[in-house]
Amino acid sequence: MIGGDGVEWWCRPRSPAGIAGSTTFAPEFRTIPFAWARVRYIRTVIRERLGPLPRSDPSHAVLVRHVFPQLGVDGDRARIRAYRLGGSNAVFEFEDRVSCAKVIGKFYGRPGVPASGDVMNRMFREYRAIERMREIGLDRHPHQVIRVFAAVPEIGGALFLEHLDGETLGVVLDAVAQGKQSSGDLYARLTALAYFLATMHNRTAREELVAFATDVKYLRKLTRTLRELGHLGESTDREFRALGDRWMGFGPMWEDQKVLLHGDATPANFLFRSGMWVGGIDFERSHFGDRSYDVGRIAGELQHAFLRHRNSRRAAEPFIGHFLWEYACHFPDRHAAFAHICSRTPFHLATTLLRIARNAWVADDYRAVLLDSARDALASVVR
Ligand SMILES: Nc1ncnc2c1ncn2[C@@H]1O[C@H](COP(=O)(O)OP(=O)(O)O)[C@@H](O)[C@H]1O
Ligand SMILES: [Mg+2]
Repeated sequence: MIGGDGVEWWCRPRSPAGIAGSTTFAPEFRTIPFAWARVRYIRTVIRERLGPLPRSDPSHAVLVRHVFPQLGVDGDRARIRAYRLGGSNAVFEFEDRVSCAKVIGKFYGRPGVPASGDVMNRMFREYRAIERMREIGLDRHPHQVIRVFAAVPEIGGALFLEHLDGETLGVVLDAVAQGKQSSGDLYARLTALAYFLATMHNRTAREELVAFATDVKYLRKLTRTLRELGHLGESTDREFRALGDRWMGFGPMWEDQKVLLHGDATPANFLFRSGMWVGGIDFERSHFGDRSYDVGRIAGELQHAFLRHRNSRRAAEPFIGHFLWEYACHFPDRHAAFAHICSRTPFHLATTLLRIARNAWVADDYRAVLLDSARDALASVVR
């Protein structure tokens, strides 16, 4: 059964009749005047100023000889300042004080140290994924995946990337969840993001069907880790395993074709300006799989934000429903696509909550909320 009654527990569209047939709506975005560019976008990332980049730094030669010239900047005249950005890898912003041109340097290994095989693989995986995304047309307005200026294994497995100005999804998500910003801003960004992801997925669809067993294996790995960390008891772990088995028997999880995924669809990895523009970054975990892996990750992040800030699952529902409904509008039969995606999303929403629950920074009482929500989402599967 595809998308029956049993799956509609949380993801009804905001107002299907009103939205059906239209793909966009355009509420005003919040922008702040800025001296030279007229608008500035607030970032959630930490941006620590490191000061002038010494000429002795291995990145310096790469920047002045290979990277800045691609932006029309005379590398010999450049005065480079470095900033460290937040992220799990070592990510830096390099700015030329003379031209104000900026680029990103992302190091998969230790900066300055030649890359190991594993580091090289991760670097080239992101490089290839970015190239592929740009080849399929995600290299211009409204879908802009960063450009790679240089890949340099010798200095720590570094990619030098186009800097994109924009505000991450996390900024508006947190502000709306905290009641500090109007919900229209979040709806608008989710519309744009749904268009970006649907375009990326639809343009890379293969004949081959998804291999859902891999996703269930991942669920098992997550619950095992949570158990090893002492966050899950034996009986709850057993319950999660049984729910995984139930999902294995749910037909819709096996029916779709594989698509190229972003692979790490978190609010920090998408940038927004006004209108439908979306900037895509961080393709290190990109791989072929089920589109609901990316879609469910966003749904899970929405649920997490509203749980965290408002202690309410229901508060996220209109946004999740809206996002899925907008995603579905990029298919010939929107209603059928919506029902199918809705039926698959709870699985990936649950794994997203479990992933978050693993983190050491999560307080015990909030972890219990995440585990409960994940279990309820998994229990929604149609028998
Ligand atoms: N090309 C870029 N343009 C603008 N900001 C970027 C760019 N690349 C990375 N950043 C910022 O740095 C952060 C970390 O970079 P990311 O590629 O996501 O690394 P990680 O794999 O460590 O998460 C991002 O969340 C984003 O805020
Ligand atoms: Mg990231």
